[in-house]
Amino acid sequence: MDLYAENILDHFQNPRNHGRLDKPTITVDDANPLCGDKLVLDLTVENSHIKEIGFDGSGCAISQAAMSILTEEILHKSLTDAESFSKDELYKLLGVAISPARVKCALLGYTLLKKAIILLKHQAQ
Ligand code: FES
Repeated sequence: MDLYAENILDHFQNPRNHGRLDKPTITVDDANPLCGDKLVLDLTVENSHIKEIGFDGSGCAISQAAMSILTEEILHKSLTDAESFSKDELYKLLGVAISPARVKCALLGYTLLKKAIILLKHQAQ
């Protein structure tokens, strides 16, 4: 197994920031309708920065590992920086070629994060 696949397996087996938060500022969830894989994401936001992040879910290694990798990446970032985090940056961190069939897996958590930020911005208005 190459190093990059090991990284995905490591995040899948030992997900970072796994578990729900007690008092999140926002909670979003989503599922991939094709397979039923699920993710729920809690964020605590203070001074427009992501102070705490937690997630729970079930599903394939890529969807769960991508969420774990993403939480490590955006924790403590400003909402603006988290919002500008791109799909390409996520793909780079995943380190494996994502086939068209697995794009939905890789982006399940990414889309959820973007949804949370849009809702947070809406709340702030
Ligand atoms: Fe369901 Fe990957 S197979 S999200």
